[in-house]
Amino acid sequence: MIESVELATAQDTEALGARIGAQLSAGDVVLLSGPLGAGKTVLAKGIGRGLGVAGPITSPTFVIAREHDPVPGGRGVPLVHVDAYRLGGAAELDDLDLDTDLSEAAVVVEWGEGMAERLSREHLLIRLTRRDDDSRLAEISRVEVPA
Ligand SMILES: Nc1ncnc2c1ncn2[C@@H]1O[C@H](COP(=O)(O)OP(=O)(O)OP(=O)(O)O)[C@@H](O)[C@H]1O
Ligand SMILES: [Mg+2]
Repeated sequence: MIESVELATAQDTEALGARIGAQLSAGDVVLLSGPLGAGKTVLAKGIGRGLGVAGPITSPTFVIAREHDPVPGGRGVPLVHVDAYRLGGAAELDDLDLDTDLSEAAVVVEWGEGMAERLSREHLLIRLTRRDDDSRLAEISRVEVPA
């Protein structure tokens, strides 16, 4: 575990995303895990802001994936935001028919555990859990995919 962060409000969740997004480079993969309504899309929105890409970043549930181009002043890296909730399996990840080369983008995947591991040898995993008081806990770790 790299870090565990208490998130009292949605703004805190977005700010954590922005801090992570500002450190991402082309080829980086981030998996966002957590139950329905945990705050994965809010986190992705922050990642887009920190990375410096055109918005708006919204829930891609019905489109599977959205591509966001870099804006001036950012990291110069596009963002591919995937919602794997309705993907049938890992193989479908290869069939998304995106214009963006994934190795040249930062890739953020909601519901990606068990599916997105094939995208990269290692990824950042952010697990969100919802507390009784409605605050969230983010647990950040770096996962190496076994060969
Ligand atoms: N730290 C937080 N404290 C309280 N509410 C939060 C926090 N972070 C996010 N939220 C709220 O949780 C709600 C759900 O967020 P979001 O849509 O990002 O969840 P999600 O995990 O993407 O859901 P889904 O599983 O449907 O994709 C939003 O209303 C958001 O404002
Ligand atoms: Mg979502």
